[in-house]
Amino acid sequence: MPSDIKTESTLFDRRTEFWRNYRIGRPAIPSSFYQRFYDYHATHGGSFGTVHDVGAGFGELSLELSKRFDHVIVSDPAPKSLDVARELIGAASSSFNKFSFRQERVEDCELPKASVDAIFCCNAIHWTDLDKAMAISTDQLKLHGTLFICLNGIPKYDSAVQPSWWSMVDNCLADVKKRMPKADVERILAIQDNGYDCIALPESDFEPGAVRLKLNMMGDPAASVQAPESSKGGPHVSNVGPHDRLEEGVEEDWFFDVDIEGLRATVGSYPFDPDPDMLERHLSKLDTILAGGTCRGHWPVSILMATRRT
Ligand SMILES: C[S@@+](CC[C@H](N)C(=O)[O-])C[C@H]1O[C@@H](n2cnc3c(N)ncnc32)[C@H](O)[C@@H]1O
Repeated sequence: MPSDIKTESTLFDRRTEFWRNYRIGRPAIPSSFYQRFYDYHATHGGSFGTVHDVGAGFGELSLELSKRFDHVIVSDPAPKSLDVARELIGAASSSFNKFSFRQERVEDCELPKASVDAIFCCNAIHWTDLDKAMAISTDQLKLHGTLFICLNGIPKYDSAVQPSWWSMVDNCLADVKKRMPKADVERILAIQDNGYDCIALPESDFEPGAVRLKLNMMGDPAASVQAPESSKGGPHVSNVGPHDRLEEGVEEDWFFDVDIEGLRATVGSYPFDPDPDMLERHLSKLDTILAGGTCRGHWPVSILMATRRT
């Protein structure tokens, strides 16, 4: 991939209302998710000093991290979103001085080398210039520090709902492609392809045996994000290393029941800004399918965990 990509960091520059809806439309992150990270970090010799939450958005995950780490760096290039994070953390945490805030792209981050115990990056790395973001994040990690990268992707629903949901997502992405250069959209989707398989975790930087965990893929390796047809990214690139540990499973924690308002919240949590008439047409069709009830959904989740070795 090119190394001087100008990434789009304004799509998520949103105020409280957007993030309030995001909170409803995105998964209720189970405690097992954080515990997996903490367990991995502890068993690989990591310390619970400083964690850097990269692309922290509205800061909810940063808040959770502060329960285990002494210091949380909350960084995001979007100024309005960082304001929302400051406000949320200020209201919810009794120890605001545990946090520091940085308004910047991870690619431009000038934190000293070997200065953080862990990098935590959820649903954000695909928005970056991946090569630069990975190089800078790797440099920031101390010896035995953990790189934790995760993608929740887009949820899947019961078979009665799924085709109409995909159709809505595809149409929203088609609207995005009208506003953003096609190559940028395809680059972002290609990074998400197969749950971040294109992210290399080289043994020159990380201990052999980096974990690549895929949850709730239900037999579909591409389930993490890709809708059929129009949302395809570039060609599939795998940088899975020969000693990486590939794990998979199904976790009930990520399954849920949803009604039409939940579907509305989820589609509204992506920075699609679709044509309102088109969106309402699709939601009305989904409403008819749900017939005033709910359907079952689940989040496919990809998690990468690696330990800095030098
Ligand atoms: C989907 S939100 C994820 C927020 C939060 N991490 C979560 O999982 O709830 C993606 C975030 O990545 C941020 N972002 C976009 N480009 C970025 C970049 N180049 N470096 C760091 N963060 C970036 C956006 O501003 C946005 O807040």
